[in-house]
Amino acid sequence: MNKYLFLVLLTLISACYYDVEEELYPNEICDTQEVSYSGFVKPVLEDNCLICHNSGSNMGNVTLEGIDNVRIYSANGRLLGAIKHEPGFSPMPQGNEKLSDCQITKIEAWINQGTMDN
Ligand code: HEC
Repeated sequence: MNKYLFLVLLTLISACYYDVEEELYPNEICDTQEVSYSGFVKPVLEDNCLICHNSGSNMGNVTLEGIDNVRIYSANGRLLGAIKHEPGFSPMPQGNEKLSDCQITKIEAWINQGTMDN
């Protein structure tokens, strides 16, 4: 079953069991409240991106090491464009699976919350 169909079915099923949705599908909840840089964004970048984008490797002339650099690519839209695989951006992480929807949603939330050093 493809992922899209699965999500549609899941939505239909959870609509029937609305009041116990959290108990049935705890993993479907993506918590975007006060996303932490040190606790979430930084480790995701370390695991998926820094091998090519630390200050030494600097592939594509892009460094994502240190919050100041991450803020540059957050502000100019290239970080989100790349991880969301939007047209006009190089899809990242290069040569690897797209980040999960929840990871992308949380990074976007962290950016919208003001790229806090939290
Ligand atoms: C295997 C190496 C590799 C990995 C892993 C990788 N990148 Fe890249 N990235 C590149 C290269 C090479 C370029 C420049 C060439 C290109 O754009 O395709 C690039 C370009 C970019 C750009 C500029 C894209 C644009 O269109 O302006 C951004 C932003 C970026 N990467 C972010 C990330 C993020 C975030 C991750 C992790 C989720 C990541 N990269 C993982 C190699 C990598």
